[in-house]
Amino acid sequence: MSADGFSGGPPEGARPDWTIDQGWSAYTPDEHRVWDILYERQAAMLPGRACDEFLHGMEALNLRRGGIPDFARVNEDLMKLTGWSVVAVPGLVPDDVFFDHLANRRFPAGQFIRKPEELDYLQEPDIFHDVFGHVPMLTDPTFADYMQAYGKGGQRALGLGRLKNLARLYWYTVEFGLMQTAKGLRIYGAGIVSSRAESIFALDDPSPNRLVFDMERVMRTPYRIDDFQQVYFVIPGLQSLLDATLQDFGPIYARMAAAHDIRIEAMLPRDQVLTAGTQAYARAGGKAAG
Ligand code: PHE
Ligand code: FE
Repeated sequence: MSADGFSGGPPEGARPDWTIDQGWSAYTPDEHRVWDILYERQAAMLPGRACDEFLHGMEALNLRRGGIPDFARVNEDLMKLTGWSVVAVPGLVPDDVFFDHLANRRFPAGQFIRKPEELDYLQEPDIFHDVFGHVPMLTDPTFADYMQAYGKGGQRALGLGRLKNLARLYWYTVEFGLMQTAKGLRIYGAGIVSSRAESIFALDDPSPNRLVFDMERVMRTPYRIDDFQQVYFVIPGLQSLLDATLQDFGPIYARMAAAHDIRIEAMLPRDQVLTAGTQAYARAGGKAAG
């Protein structure tokens, strides 16, 4: 994840590219236990909910060895599979730094883990969200290429002043994406697979809209950072997502400059609607997602 609003360089102790040592041997038994609890919860939840690519990635990386994974060990497997690696960062990093890592097949992951009393509450992405949520998908060659392309696309969008639009693509795919498969609707977004409550809500709740993915539609749709999504976009598969991003975004960005945002809960005549949500959850005021 990245964030705007950084003024100076990296915090003390971090390298110029904002990475730090993971310091794996310094995690406490309590911190390892938090990982184990979260891991077991999600591992029990996700068969039949997460897409096969995610479940295979989880297996391939063997994130179940007990305790917080050591990046050095994860990277041995990940590097062999797709040439990606995980690097530790203190927290959110500036957009340009984030994109540079992605463009070079490095995924920046928060080094810290949430507190035991905050299992369902996260202000900033921690190591569980970043590693459990994001890294399994990076074992898939198509998704791996998509993420690298996104990093390059991010650098370009920054230069063109269209990051707002490209960030929505990240949000509605990498973080909160759903996929239609032969077995049914499945999750691939990291923000969903790493959340107990949203991995149910995203698939089963009648409240949110579920729409077939459309690039420009997504780029015009704002998102919620504080609660469950009000709309999810469904891709037919990873290859189709990658293909849709191979086109030159220049003309799209030019159209975006003139286009207005779409209300988050709106359904348009052109939308291909899988679920016309009741929006009951959002209308009742929501309540922080976990
Ligand atoms: N094709 C996009 C462009 O021309 C780059 C991109 C690739 C963006 C993949 C996002 C994901 O800017
Ligand atoms: Fe994330």
